[in-house]
Amino acid sequence: MLELMECQTLNNNFEISSLMLQGDKDRVRHINDLIQIVLEQKATISDYKISEQLLKDLITKYVKAETELKKLNELKNKFLGMAAHDLRNPLGAILNYSQFLKEDEDLDAETQSEFIENIYSASSNMLAILNDLLDISQIESGKINLKVKLDNLNQLICHRVKLGQVISQNKEIEITTQLGELPEVPFDSDRLGQVLDNFISNAIKFSSSGTVIQIRSSIHKGKVKVEVCDQGPGIPEEEIGKLFGEFQKLSARPTGGEKSTGLGLAIVKKIVEAHNGEIGVESILGQGSTFFFKIPIK
Ligand SMILES: Nc1ncnc2c1ncn2[C@@H]1O[C@H](COP(=O)(O)OP(=O)(O)OP(=O)(O)O)[C@@H](O)[C@H]1O
Ligand SMILES: [Mg+2]
Repeated sequence: MLELMECQTLNNNFEISSLMLQGDKDRVRHINDLIQIVLEQKATISDYKISEQLLKDLITKYVKAETELKKLNELKNKFLGMAAHDLRNPLGAILNYSQFLKEDEDLDAETQSEFIENIYSASSNMLAILNDLLDISQIESGKINLKVKLDNLNQLICHRVKLGQVISQNKEIEITTQLGELPEVPFDSDRLGQVLDNFISNAIKFSSSGTVIQIRSSIHKGKVKVEVCDQGPGIPEEEIGKLFGEFQKLSARPTGGEKSTGLGLAIVKKIVEAHNGEIGVESILGQGSTFFFKIPIK
């Protein structure tokens, strides 16, 4: 018992351990009473049985809590390492460019506006990383509140495709759609918009110029299915299992210097699952990938 409490302390999570202890106060008190009975040599077999069961319950609970704490600690460390690493580059760029602007009064207008543009893009990059980090930590702690409404998913797809086209045009990548007729289905349009954005931005990010991305929607066995199909590098079979985990930057790297944190697919998996849906990918190495999600019609 003492050893287990020390483990909790070692985990440096006093808040959780004290909460657990509060919940178990009665059981601990009961065990103390039983110890007293044993000391007074008045214990019966049933007293021993009760105390054994109580101790077993407590141990199981503490072992489970310790495993969860270890997992949370690992995730927290990954977060910190990632944040330090991925935020340092854009922050360094912002510092350097702003210092040039501050110290060099002879910079011509064109160079000045180029530096300001670089500062803007580095700040946007940082904001996107911070938003992803906040999202995943909120989702990990079980705070995913969906604002579900009956709506037309094709409309959302068209809207997100338009946003994607602004970026894909710069890389000379074409986005086409093949949308089937869909009934209105319940979904959170901001959250599913995030899923589409990630699929589409990945397809653009990891594909080369001159390729085509096709977005399809259809009804499949009582579910609405949305697919984003690209002609990018494809995904090696041994990486498929890792794709939807946190901080997974795999062998496909951005073809146009875009940011890559490895959080997008982990976030969208949680969003699709919160809709009671399914997420997946089919891919042929060297030919392309099709990411899809399905959500129930009702
Ligand atoms: N369409 C795709 N084609 C090939 N590889 C892909 C594709 N989409 C994702 N990947 C691989 O999976 C990894 C994880 O994707 P994910 O969307 O989670 O992160 P990211 O795009 O690298 O960063 P973020 O989405 O956080 O900005 C990518 O780094 C890439 O290696
Ligand atoms: Mg992504």
